[in-house]
Amino acid sequence: MNYNIAIDGPAGAGKSTVAKAIAKKKGFIYVDTGAMYRAMALYFLREGIAAGETDKIEAACEKADISIDYADGVQIVLLNGENVNGLIRTEQVGNMASSSSVNPKVREKLVALQQKLAAEKSVVMDGRDICTKVLTDAAVKIYLTADTKVRAKRRYDELVEKGENCDIAAIEKDIQERDHRDMTRAVSPLVRAEDAVLVDSSNMPVEEVVRTILSISDKKSGE
Ligand code: DC
Repeated sequence: MNYNIAIDGPAGAGKSTVAKAIAKKKGFIYVDTGAMYRAMALYFLREGIAAGETDKIEAACEKADISIDYADGVQIVLLNGENVNGLIRTEQVGNMASSSSVNPKVREKLVALQQKLAAEKSVVMDGRDICTKVLTDAAVKIYLTADTKVRAKRRYDELVEKGENCDIAAIEKDIQERDHRDMTRAVSPLVRAEDAVLVDSSNMPVEEVVRTILSISDKKSGE
């Protein structure tokens, strides 16, 4: 069986940065499941579908083929064959991903793809339901979180660096709303799995978070 590392946590906790670094160190594949929900959300937005239109989302879901490729170790998300990496990082797509991911049909389709990837190769996979649903038998399970204000500041700094004009209070409110939606939905809400190790990155630089998770992984391997 493959050695899989599962990382769940709220938006802005640093999951993707940390997961990428761990995958590199271990020589594993990094699987960003949020990007899959985002690609699906992009399809819905392009079809002019609104967040609450369940029937339309379920019908459109059948027509959106999501697949994953890798170029120089970087995950590329393909939506019906088109590389959409450059189009899925907007707040609009993120919010649509959060809203449309409550739909069981959307989840069923993407969970199947995620489980297939982890069955083929050892992965570091991050998302909201990886420990609790997608890879329940992962060798290492981590719940990575950080204080809401810290997560808002990180997002703010990222956007400022990209030259975008933004308001930190609005970002914090957006994060709170997203947390609420992701944590209270009926299907696979974001919760810490009983057997996941809690890592709070509020006061930790990235390298320290990476070291902490690698040492948790080493301990598990030695058990
Ligand atoms: O991690 P992210 O911001 O790219 O994720 C975007 C949204 O996708 C997130 O708000 C909820 C949804 N998502 C999910 O429901 N399950 C996952 N495993 C990953 C993401």
